[in-house]
Amino acid sequence: MKLLAFNASPRKTRGATEVIMNRFIEGAREAGAQIERHYVSDLMIKGCTGCFSCWWNTPGKCVHNDDMDWVLPRMVDADIIYMGTPIYNYNIVHGLQRMREKTLPLAMPDMVIEGGETRHPSRVKRGQQTVLAAVCGFPDLANFRQAEGLFPDATHIFLPAAQMLFQDEGRSLLAGFLDDVWDAGYQMSMGNSLTDEHMRRLIVEYPDDVKRSIVEAHNERVARA
Ligand SMILES: Cc1cc2nc3c(=O)[nH]c(=O)nc-3n(C[C@H](O)[C@H](O)[C@H](O)COP(=O)(O)O)c2cc1C
Repeated sequence: MKLLAFNASPRKTRGATEVIMNRFIEGAREAGAQIERHYVSDLMIKGCTGCFSCWWNTPGKCVHNDDMDWVLPRMVDADIIYMGTPIYNYNIVHGLQRMREKTLPLAMPDMVIEGGETRHPSRVKRGQQTVLAAVCGFPDLANFRQAEGLFPDATHIFLPAAQMLFQDEGRSLLAGFLDDVWDAGYQMSMGNSLTDEHMRRLIVEYPDDVKRSIVEAHNERVARA
């Protein structure tokens, strides 16, 4: 199994996105996966100009020469594509969105209707598994709505109040979640499907009293600053 993993956090190794991605990768490594990982902010990806050259003039090739020249073939070759992102303003971060726009060369210009929705078919019929792992600062799952909508077919890993990973109490509260992330990396790299129950545990939902204590602890830190 080939795992291609992207961390789109501009904070790279210092963020919660990295902690979760590392755990998924550890599980995948245990399963013998071939792993390649990148920080999106290190990649030179020029913005899509909407010229459609990749459809009409040079099918499958963008008019820009940038790092997508090697990222796209790697995506096609991968069995699992993992995308880690913080939520910024209720959405995935800019770098991941730019990368996503630049996958247009992998789409055909034709339109097909599937399940009542119109899509462009893919040039490459491989059916990779995708994972969207998003973290945010507020304790509510509502912050992931856009991200979920952008990648409806991905396996979702959502961690609200991800700053908890850097606090002793939070780390012990989230130990089971991190084990589930490890196991997701392991199971997917073994070619196994995740159970519904496993997928449910990859989306962390805090009870109201935990949410309240997260907010109070945050406000205390703000008051001290
Ligand atoms: C510009 C900006 C916008 C943000 N917007 C949101 C938001 O809409 N909702 C939220 O819950 N957290 C928001 N956050 C908090 C980040 O999602 C949170 O700090 C996350 O842990 C960052 O990921 P990282 O640690 O991997 O860098 C925002 C942070 C920044 C810098």
